[in-house]
Amino acid sequence: MTAYDTIADWYETTFLTGQRDDPLGIEATLHELLGPGAGSCLELGCGTGIHAGTIRELGRRPLGIDVSAGMLRHATGRLPVARGDAEALPVATGSLPAVVAVMVHTDMPAYPAVLREAARVLAPGGVFVHVGVHPCFCGGFADRSDERAVVIRPGYRDPGWTTASWTDRGLRDKVGAAHLPLPARRAQPDGPRLAGAKSFAVVVESGLPRLTPWQEVIEEAAMTKEFEVGFEGTLAGTPDQCWRAVTVEAGSWSWPISYEPRAGGRETGLTFYGGEVTVWQPDEHFATRCEKDGWFNELDYTFEPRGDATHLKFVHRGVFLEDWDTNYDACRKHTAFYYHSLGEYLAHFPGRSATYAMTEAPESSAEPGGFAKLKKALGVPDDVQAGDRLAVRGHDGVVDYVTPEFLGVRTADALYRFYGRNAFGWPIGVGRHHFAEVDADAEGWDAWLAEVFG
Ligand SMILES: C[S@@+](CC[C@H](N)C(=O)[O-])C[C@H]1O[C@@H](n2cnc3c(N)ncnc32)[C@H](O)[C@@H]1O
Repeated sequence: MTAYDTIADWYETTFLTGQRDDPLGIEATLHELLGPGAGSCLELGCGTGIHAGTIRELGRRPLGIDVSAGMLRHATGRLPVARGDAEALPVATGSLPAVVAVMVHTDMPAYPAVLREAARVLAPGGVFVHVGVHPCFCGGFADRSDERAVVIRPGYRDPGWTTASWTDRGLRDKVGAAHLPLPARRAQPDGPRLAGAKSFAVVVESGLPRLTPWQEVIEEAAMTKEFEVGFEGTLAGTPDQCWRAVTVEAGSWSWPISYEPRAGGRETGLTFYGGEVTVWQPDEHFATRCEKDGWFNELDYTFEPRGDATHLKFVHRGVFLEDWDTNYDACRKHTAFYYHSLGEYLAHFPGRSATYAMTEAPESSAEPGGFAKLKKALGVPDDVQAGDRLAVRGHDGVVDYVTPEFLGVRTADALYRFYGRNAFGWPIGVGRHHFAEVDADAEGWDAWLAEVFG
């Protein structure tokens, strides 16, 4: 049983009643420091959950963790909670966009360890908010019996745990408080860095009793692991040419898409399952989005004239339901290759329509070494570089893209794209964008790839 278990009912009914008008400005401070946002916000030492409303008002989804079952009994109607220790959060590293700690540092003698945990679970760019009373105003030496002054009696410089208090009607005489003066705090070894870690992923480890459906909320959050990839660069051609390349001529460098040319129209081919055009401003801004049960996928293109050229900003956001790291890596690398190919198209085949064909190599090509086998069969030297001459099955061309995973070859009338997707555990793909008449079936890639990987 924790100290708070024994006073939880008093805390909820008596103590919090005295705080109703927010005399310390806690809610206003939390509001200001946390700011609006989305996604889960974990409150460390959430107690009876009275800050859940403020967190929700900011557009965030409150989750709470506290060691006291008694306090959590009152919190369950306010937010999803788990009983657990803030020094060892049952949350995956780099997983949360926001963590808050409100009026808890005096209850957590190992607060530096709690801060380290907060830093661990924060996602990149995530926010941590600490709201607490300055240690000189909340120790056992801080006498508030005169309403017009806080008298600091001797004791500020002595760290420790005490139930001493100026009143027997407050909290601290009942549960005690840890005191750490600022000079002692500064003397502590390097504090945690709260810059966040990497990308969004939430996993709950088992073993903690759960009082409310926190598990489901976290699992839901785990399902909604968001990603963002993009491209930004200046491309040959006017905004109109770039706009047409991205919309009408997408098959000339990536794959064909279809859409109704208006905001609110249907789109297929871009978002995973087909979505709705959310912005349709020709030559300026095109966006499409699909969403379902909290899952979403959206692509956003903005076009800005830069002299004779166009600056394109492309952002692709969404959720990977499984195998986040692999999918993110694949998405990022494919995006880089696609937008390089867009540049090749605009620079070398502007305005032309291509016949698009894609052939997937046999399943065995997904093995490690699959791409090396393909390159060997194509006659690609180990030290191949962009700019080298290379014939693709008899078609002379120049290498325009080389990474460990991908190869691009541009001929006089085609862009050949080799996707070494075995790097992600998937079969290799061979894409072609033919700007001259061609019978894609007669190219014989199926048979050639079957022979290579037979
Ligand atoms: C003063 S209350 C604050 C509750 C709430 N944040 C509020 O502002 O009303 C401090 C809370 O911290 C919790 N607490 C203390 N140590 C903790 C720890 N190591 N991990 C999680 N919660 C803890 C207590 O159980 C208590 O509910």
